[in-house]
Amino acid sequence: MIYEGKAITVKEIEGGIAQLNFDLQGESVNKFNRLTIEELRAATDKLEAEKGLKGLVVTSSKDSFIVGADINEFTELFAGPEEDLVANNLKANEVFSAIEDLPFPTVTAINGMALGGGFEMCLATDYRVMDKTAKVGLPEVKLGIFPGFGGTVRLSRLVGVDYAVEWICGGTENRADKALNIGAVDAVLEGEKLVEAAIGIINQCNAGKLDYKARREEKKGKIKLNAMESMMAFEISKAYVAGQAGKNYPAPVEAIKVMQKHAGLTRDKAIEVEAKGFAKMAKTNVAACLVGLFLNDQELKKKAKAWGKEANDVKLAAVLGAGIMGGGVAFQSALKGTPILMKDINQDGIALGLKEAKKLLTKRIDKGKMKPDQMADVLNNITPTLNYGDFKNVDLVVEAVVENAKVKDAVLRETEESVREDTILTSNTSTISINKLAANLKRPENFCGMHFFNPVHMMPLVEVIRGEKTSDRAIATTVAYAKAMGKTPIVVNDCPGFLVNRVLFPYFGGFVNLVRDGADFQHVDKVMEKFGWPMGPAYLLDVVGMDTGKHAGEVMAEGFPDRMKHEGTTAIDVMYDNNRYGQKNDKGFYKYELDRKGKQKKVVDEETYKLLEPVVQGKNDFSDDDIIARMMLPLCLETVRCLEDGIVEDPADADMGLIFGIGFPPFRGGALRYIDDMGVDKFVELADKFADLGPLYHPTEKLREMAKTGEKFFG
Ligand SMILES: NC(=O)c1ccc[n+]([C@@H]2O[C@H](COP(=O)([O-])OP(=O)(O)OC[C@H]3O[C@@H](n4cnc5c(N)ncnc54)[C@H](O)[C@@H]3O)[C@@H](O)[C@H]2O)c1
Repeated sequence: MIYEGKAITVKEIEGGIAQLNFDLQGESVNKFNRLTIEELRAATDKLEAEKGLKGLVVTSSKDSFIVGADINEFTELFAGPEEDLVANNLKANEVFSAIEDLPFPTVTAINGMALGGGFEMCLATDYRVMDKTAKVGLPEVKLGIFPGFGGTVRLSRLVGVDYAVEWICGGTENRADKALNIGAVDAVLEGEKLVEAAIGIINQCNAGKLDYKARREEKKGKIKLNAMESMMAFEISKAYVAGQAGKNYPAPVEAIKVMQKHAGLTRDKAIEVEAKGFAKMAKTNVAACLVGLFLNDQELKKKAKAWGKEANDVKLAAVLGAGIMGGGVAFQSALKGTPILMKDINQDGIALGLKEAKKLLTKRIDKGKMKPDQMADVLNNITPTLNYGDFKNVDLVVEAVVENAKVKDAVLRETEESVREDTILTSNTSTISINKLAANLKRPENFCGMHFFNPVHMMPLVEVIRGEKTSDRAIATTVAYAKAMGKTPIVVNDCPGFLVNRVLFPYFGGFVNLVRDGADFQHVDKVMEKFGWPMGPAYLLDVVGMDTGKHAGEVMAEGFPDRMKHEGTTAIDVMYDNNRYGQKNDKGFYKYELDRKGKQKKVVDEETYKLLEPVVQGKNDFSDDDIIARMMLPLCLETVRCLEDGIVEDPADADMGLIFGIGFPPFRGGALRYIDDMGVDKFVELADKFADLGPLYHPTEKLREMAKTGEKFFG
């Protein structure tokens, strides 16, 4: 044994060839935490000192090679001064460079995933052999940073600028064939042959058949482009990537700038450039928010896993109603492998649900995400029915019939008669209280909400709503089923609108009041899109549908009359009263026309302004900041109330719900994180400035207290 640590061991395997193996004790995956880096330093020192070694194979004995850096350490690390971050990176890089400089040929055998720092480790060796099912990549931009263990330096020299930009700025996980094609790895094989192949390469190097030293020098040298080629490559990619990433995500463009800056430098100087650029990105609020988001997501996954222990198996599900939502639920369940009965009251409904599923499957096939013969398997998982015949075999039911309390009440009661005593019943209602729907059920403990978002196959969130009488088993089974469908479940307590709609409608409230006070709805949309929302509020209402918006708005007003009731006619009422339901009938705030590809395109309709005239009081040219404040204050304050009322368990659940449910700008981390970043005191001050707009803008007592004491939602 040459070295033995808690994350790394090094031993001689044959004929002077050493094997450095990653196997982080007590963890299911290998990651670059502080300990691993320290041990890599120590192990490399031993390798340098060991006499007579002829080569090194780097391996992992976990299912994956190394999944990346330990993101749990980022929050503390990134909070420190920028100089410390630079120093920290340079220190870690000394280890990777020492591996690159070992006096014998080195090969990494890549199994499973080699991502981020894990792939940068692979890049430090002379050669890479890869399991044909493995994936490699540098996904750091997803956290608002870019590779900092020499990745921008080595990859750009190994595969060229264009591919390095594609991989680093796209943050993609890349398959073995692609990696081989562009020269990121040298051979692709069956997993069990990797070490043998690596030894083969080392033997060839030592026999003089492969020139590992020349390869090494290429990786350590300057990028091989003349000034003109370099200018073209970097400038063109900068413009393209800037367009793709948008202003709110600076890391991808910064990564290109860094590569451009170190293109003419050799390794050690180039790494200094990378370290400085990395530290600059790590200090941005975007990185802090995206790292926070990643950690919150881990927490959600842990919670869902914990629920899993109490869950019943869902071998067969059923959905009631084959409409937009029911059809979507059936498709998603079938796609992810849980067979489902799809019941409707009429054949037309069923035909529509199946047609939608087929359309979605054909799209997947067209995009190469699915093989044609798999389509039949998925469709066979959906059993359409007009009666409750097979419902005794069903483990969980999702009710998705029309949003009408009386209809739902009747449907749920008759379903309860047709299923087993242990079957879990759920409702996909968007607004009706779960306690109210449970009132006439015989087994309310087996009932909860399961609120999907439209379109079901695209939207990651499912709100699992706990009624007063809901049992843990019902929640656990529903959470497990949502997970099995590939969704992110968040457990919330019952109230009108639950978490997401309860927070969304005050935001719409902010919007209609802005229009009332003379703002141009298009200006509001533009400002909010620039702020980071995927679509502005007027456009979003067109997508949701004015009928849904109006109906849900009324339920919310009934639930929270003090702040959600509107005096007089609103812009939403005007659209609804003029049959402008939005995208569904091609007219809402905007008009929708088909473009050349047959896609719905949003166009301005002057008619809208005429229709709105009676509700608009004067003309007001609001500043962008005022628009943002008037839109965001009600949304954030309602999120605070949801937390205080115990609708959500903690700030992380609230923020993740908004990001996954309504597309809250991820780089801002969520509503509560947004308040934290502004400073609770500054936020309260801003709210007070708009106090005249009514109770939607009034901070809670507890928030005022937080403003005084300096308490934050996150840490
Ligand atoms: N559309 C959305 O954006 C959205 C989002 C989240 C939740 N929801 C909720 O999902 C539910 C369904 O909404 P949708 O948009 O899919 O409606 P939809 O009108 O498209 O579909 C409703 C379907 O239910 C069927 N139906 C009516 N009575 C039935 C009965 N007794 N048994 C079986 N089927 C019956 C109808 O034939 C129709 O096919 C509603 O509660 C709605 O609030 C909708």
